[in-house]
Amino acid sequence: MRSYSDISVDTPSQGVQLIRLNRPEAHNALRTALLGELADALTEAEQDDQVRVIVLTGSEKVFAAGADIKEMAELNPVDIWKDKRPQHWNGIKAFQKPIITAVNGYCLGGGMELALCADIIIAGENAQFGQPEINLGIIPGAGGTQRLIRSVGKSLAMKLILSGEFINAREALAACLVAEVTQPELTLKRATELATTIASKSPVAVRIAKEAILAAYETPLSQGLELERKAFLFLASTEDRQEGIQAFMEKRVPQFKGQ
Ligand code: CAA
Repeated sequence: MRSYSDISVDTPSQGVQLIRLNRPEAHNALRTALLGELADALTEAEQDDQVRVIVLTGSEKVFAAGADIKEMAELNPVDIWKDKRPQHWNGIKAFQKPIITAVNGYCLGGGMELALCADIIIAGENAQFGQPEINLGIIPGAGGTQRLIRSVGKSLAMKLILSGEFINAREALAACLVAEVTQPELTLKRATELATTIASKSPVAVRIAKEAILAAYETPLSQGLELERKAFLFLASTEDRQEGIQAFMEKRVPQFKGQ
């Protein structure tokens, strides 16, 4: 495993790997190097059969306060054009196993876009979500204008992006931005527990379920249903399906091998 400075990557346990954003001096601001490390860690995790689910978190006070504004300030338009950020974001987006984000404190700008890029958000009661780019005279640049509207609808997406105001964890839950709200000290525990549950399922079925759900963003209903049907038929040929059905009949816990 390569060494990292802006993130920490734990050894997988029970199929779950913890990745922590680790720039406390900058509220975990997502400088280009951090995004590169995250994309690399996910590429490694994709190849590692010991990893079935990722839990991504920050600190107890901050998930991530957005792109690194100090780094951004140094870049001219050509630097931005040449910057590797879009490539790193593409690497993060392409990850095929589930990512659960455990969010405490600020989850802003690019930090919120990172959480939106992941699959499930578990938020601590102290979480604050926002797209404050408008305060800097810019707009979200890592998918916020497109993903947020699909997640919370037009009115709230417009409010967040046009005003820069934050919403708290309860408001985020009501808007379906997050799946659950916990006490801040339990956020990581709950995310890990959920990840462990998902890691015990068939990795083939989990991966195909994620792919099918994400396809709903891109496809009309009829095409999405067709894709689901083909995916369902494909899963009929797996050993994991046989094992799942057999274990049900024999009243035992299935042992999925990802075959
Ligand atoms: N980039 C770089 N440094 C940041 C940062 C960021 N996004 N957010 C915080 N920091 C740094 C601060 O400069 C400060 O460093 P110094 O001690 O060296 O001054 C340190 O982290 C602590 O921050 P604060 O003193 O500001 O902490 P606070 O608790 O008073 O406020 C905050 C917290 C409300 C999150 C505030 O830091 C803040 O507003 N940060 C910026 C949030 C923002 O605008 N994010 C959007 C960035 S643009 C973007 O993300 C574009 C994109 O999608 C591609």
